[in-house]
Amino acid sequence: MKLLVKGGRVVNASADGPADVLCVDGKITQIAARIDAGAAAGAEVIDATGKLVFPGFIDPHVHIHLPFMGTHAKDDWESASRAALVGGTTTLIEMVCPSRADEPWAAYELWKSKAAGKASCDYAFHMGVTRWDEATEGVLRRVVDDGTTSFKVFLAYRGAFGVNDQELYRTLSLAKELGVVVTAHCENETLVAERQAELVAAGKVGPEWHEVSRPVAVETEGVHHLMTFARLTGAAVYVVHTSCRPAVEIARAAADSGVDVKIETVLPYLVLDSSAAERPDFEGAKFVMSPPIRSREHQDYLWGALRSRQVATVGTDHAPFDFGAQKELGKPPASNFTKIPNGIPSVEHRVQLLYTHGVAAGRMNLPTFVDCASTQAARIFGLNGKGVIEPGADADLVVWDPEWRGRISAATHHMRADYSAFEGGEIKGRAAVVTVRGSIMVRDGQFNGERGHGRFVPRTRHGAATSAR
Ligand code: URP
Ligand code: ZN
Ligand code: ZN
Repeated sequence: MKLLVKGGRVVNASADGPADVLCVDGKITQIAARIDAGAAAGAEVIDATGKLVFPGFIDPHVHIHLPFMGTHAKDDWESASRAALVGGTTTLIEMVCPSRADEPWAAYELWKSKAAGKASCDYAFHMGVTRWDEATEGVLRRVVDDGTTSFKVFLAYRGAFGVNDQELYRTLSLAKELGVVVTAHCENETLVAERQAELVAAGKVGPEWHEVSRPVAVETEGVHHLMTFARLTGAAVYVVHTSCRPAVEIARAAADSGVDVKIETVLPYLVLDSSAAERPDFEGAKFVMSPPIRSREHQDYLWGALRSRQVATVGTDHAPFDFGAQKELGKPPASNFTKIPNGIPSVEHRVQLLYTHGVAAGRMNLPTFVDCASTQAARIFGLNGKGVIEPGADADLVVWDPEWRGRISAATHHMRADYSAFEGGEIKGRAAVVTVRGSIMVRDGQFNGERGHGRFVPRTRHGAATSAR
């Protein structure tokens, strides 16, 4: 099977310029100023004149199968992967999130089974470590042998996913030995629990109090805590969904003093601000996620930290819950903000919103856009053959029409959630054609692929095992 993408401007994280791209049997085989008809005999030709050609985008932080806060996230792999592809994302890394009571290997198999045969894009997992007992180490070794070379810990969500300090230390020590990365949700759970109780007791129960219960200091303390443990164990860590300036600064200071840490932010923090959760009539619940969406000052700082490449990646933390029946679990007067399922549906529009508010708004150049939305995720998490357009790489390509204009609406999105946090937002540019390993999945901006085309991607380890401490 041959595909020739002709006449576009090929953009990698390192360089960009006009080129044709030839793909054979799912791999990129040639990139040249002009590939002649002979070399491309029998190929399907995609005219990319006036278009940009990007490596398939990678979302390193999504939740699809997610039992959480008394309910379940709305998407399954069929809807989420279709939404991702229409938006230009060709690989998703999902968090496996067993409860403390679940048997971890069974959970890992369950999460994999939800994607197999249903995912249309490629996929991988971060293995959640939500408890540590005599069986945990053996299970984690098996998971890593299976090609899932990153773990996930939560320093928040006490009683659900949260780990204690002994569990954190043991997880990081094992990760160091195995050469895998530990991704971490950093918020101090004791501070959250105490502040939530105080606010609710004072009758402060609406969604606007969510941010007050988890202020910047709560996140900053969480990052500081993780840095201490990472320094002592020598483990490589990745701070997920970083929302604010002090959290980035603490992680950067640790990096400067030798801690192996990478920083992720997520799309909602770059486009929305804290006033969203203050919208009347409980509408603010649509914007409740943790850590909370911060003020403009933090948002501006995050854009700068992306530009300077201090923040490595932009994910989504896609966690879709309906406004109607699910966010309402936390609606006063019967309930309060602590019961609002945390999360925002966003897997579909990450790339378009990053392009619109980043590239088109002059906040970042094209190589930086590719780096933070694709290449860095591939490098950090060992997704070999992804995140770059070069001979030998997977033929995951996005032919991008920069002139396209549209607006976001829940009425037309592919995610299953009944609302969009970005409703009515203008978008500039879209993925006109998307390929996964050489198969066309999106054409003219519409899903056109084979359901279940996606494959589990076994990943390489972050680094060779060296002495533990
Ligand atoms: O609010 C969030 N972030 N929901 C999803 C679960 C998590 O913490 O990543
Ligand atoms: Zn989280
Ligand atoms: Zn998450």
